[in-house]
Amino acid sequence: MRVFSGIQATGAKHIGNYIGAMRQYVETQEENDAFFCVVDLHSITSDYDPQDLHDRTLDLAALLYAVGLAPDKCTLFLQSHVTGHAEAAWLLSAVTGFGQLGRMTQFKEKGEGKDFVSAGLFTYPVLMAGDILLYQTDIVPVGDDQRQHIELARDLAERFNSRFGQTFKVPRGVFPEVGARIMDLQEPTKKMSTTGGTPQGTVLVLDPPDVIRKKFKTAVTDSGREVRYAPDEKPGVSNLIEILSVASGTAIPEVEASYDGRGYGDLKGDVGEAVVQLFAPMQERYAELRADEAELRRLLRVGAEKARETSAPTLADMYERMGFVRP
Ligand code: AMP
Ligand code: TRP
Repeated sequence: MRVFSGIQATGAKHIGNYIGAMRQYVETQEENDAFFCVVDLHSITSDYDPQDLHDRTLDLAALLYAVGLAPDKCTLFLQSHVTGHAEAAWLLSAVTGFGQLGRMTQFKEKGEGKDFVSAGLFTYPVLMAGDILLYQTDIVPVGDDQRQHIELARDLAERFNSRFGQTFKVPRGVFPEVGARIMDLQEPTKKMSTTGGTPQGTVLVLDPPDVIRKKFKTAVTDSGREVRYAPDEKPGVSNLIEILSVASGTAIPEVEASYDGRGYGDLKGDVGEAVVQLFAPMQERYAELRADEAELRRLLRVGAEKARETSAPTLADMYERMGFVRP
């Protein structure tokens, strides 16, 4: 199956990104023809700093290799290296309803209270749909917050197919069973996020071990003392249980059972330690990969070449079916 996913180069990546998305990338590259894209074009839709975008893009590419994406098992590339993505977004805007974009919750959330809201923030989901559809994608591994955007991509594929003739495969989102929505450790009713969350409640993949331990130690838990998985009633504790389940590779009921007669303090200590162990080898690999920028850029050039080749026929079909005179 063809797999495609994208990840933004803004903000340092956190354990929510790892558990909700990157972990799935690493799994899916094994059995599938997988494409992963650092979506740098998406990063200019909110206020940003050019130098920061430049550095973060390379940081994220190195991090993706460090968490386990392998150049010989998948194709990793930068969105701006394959110009077809920007073109596809423009072409797809012809089948996108203005009202439809206005209903996107991410647009509403990110635009709220801002002095300046760019047109790019509004059309962001069209660019994302193009990313996916250009690759005749079967499945899109993402976290829960991307459900609505995936629905839109499916909708645009269907609308384009019926208006201009069968062109796109209609993709399907896949969401992890555990950890599709990791919550902020300080405000466990809000999703963990580098833009909307608290710094103390956001555990970064590259945080030093002591910082990780401290963030978990000071996590906000719920009333009562029983370690039980009940997201509505006990959001803080349930979030820690999910993280521990993933970090230690233990199913949720077993995690619960192992805290019989023990309290929140033990849970916080254990989850912090498990995450430190999980991230330690990734942090080591990251430092090595990031230090060799020439090699990193070489790998990304190879990835872009493969992505260009793979997406070109679909882009050409789009132009042709829409009636453009080809050069
Ligand atoms: P972004 O950094 O916004 O590009 O997100 C990259 C990926 O991480 C997407 O697939 C998101 O759905 C996923 N993601 C972001 N925040 C979380 C979270 N708190 N829990 C689980 N997945 C998340
Ligand atoms: N919008 C996604 C996010 O914020 C990132 C993204 C862009 C993406 N293009 C994509 C995800 C294509 C999956 C497929 O997380």
